[in-house]
This record gives sequence, structure tokens and C-alpha cells, in this order.
Amino acid sequence: MQKSTLLIGTLLLSFAAGLAYTRPAPQDDDPTPLGDAMGTLQGGQRKLRKQLKDTENSAAAVATLQEMQRGAITALGLPPAPPEGMEDAKKPAWRIDFQRQMVQVLDALLTLELAVTEGRTEAAKEAYKALGALKKTGHDTYQ
Ligand code: HEM
Repeated sequence: MQKSTLLIGTLLLSFAAGLAYTRPAPQDDDPTPLGDAMGTLQGGQRKLRKQLKDTENSAAAVATLQEMQRGAITALGLPPAPPEGMEDAKKPAWRIDFQRQMVQVLDALLTLELAVTEGRTEAAKEAYKALGALKKTGHDTYQ
């Protein structure tokens, strides 16, 4: 009984400490959690350029794609702050549009994984291109 009271007390204290801690405003070049997830997408895209050519061995490309899928799922939960001065009424649409674009990134990654595992090289090339286009559209509005 005493042990569990101590445990609950410790948990409450850490929770209160978490609430009291104010995060310093990120500097422009500080990595953010969203920036880290984007880094995973970027690193994967770079690796895929070589891996997609090695059609005999799809395991490496599949591993990269699954890592990127986890990156996209993480990014989906980390929408960027809306631009300063945006009306409150417009903020949900801003966030939801970001999230929908990340869902499209995830879908392109799944399409690409399926094409790679089924040995459909042309379809894999198309899905890889689609990924590049999604990145451009996303960055035009959100980065
Ligand atoms: C395959 C697709 C994508 C790749 C490879 C990619 C890559 C990157 C890279 C390399 C960065 C810089 C990360 C850093 O600051 O260290 C970045 C940042 C960012 N990207 Fe993407 N991106 C992709 C898709 C998207 C999409 C679809 C959106 C929006 C819907 C988006 C929104 C952003 C935002 C908001 C940032 C700034 C993050 C921050 O610094 O907090 N990206 N991305």
C-alpha cells in the first residue's frame, strides 16, 4: 500500500514538473520533432534512389519505405503552428490540410512498397515521382 502511494506521488510530481516547465521558443535552426520526422523522409528518399534500381533485392527498399512510413505517421501528429495573425476560424482547415497531405505521403509510400514487393518497376518509379511532387506542394504552403 505504502509503495503504491509513493509511486502515485512520484508520478503526480513528475506530471506537475512537466506542466511547470516552459519550453524555450525554438530558434530557426534548432531541430523540431517535425523537422526530425521530415529528416527521416528525406534520408529515405535519398537511399531509395539507389535501392529502387536493385530490383533483384527489394528487402533494403522495403526496410527504407517502412522507416519512411513511420516518419510520415509521426509527422501527421505534429502539424506546424499556423502563421502568426491567422484568424482562429481558419486554423482547423490549415491543420487538417497539412494532415491530409501527410496521409497522401503515407499512401504514396504504401503504393511504392506494394509495387516494389510485386516487382512492378514502372509503377514504383511513378510512386517515387509522386512522392517528390507531394513534397514540393507541401513545402510551398507549409515550410
Ligand atoms: C517525401 C516528402 C517530404 C520530404 C522528403 C520532406 C523533407 C523535409 C526536410 C528535409 C525538411 C527540413 C527538416 C529540418 O528542418 O531539419 C522539411 C521540413 C518541413 N516540411 Fe517536409 N518533406 C516532405 C513532405 C512534406 C509535406 C507533404 C509537408 C506538408 C504537408 C511538409 C512540411 C514541412 C514543414 C512544415 C517543415 C518545417 C518543419 C520544422 O522545421 O519544424 N513536408 N521537410
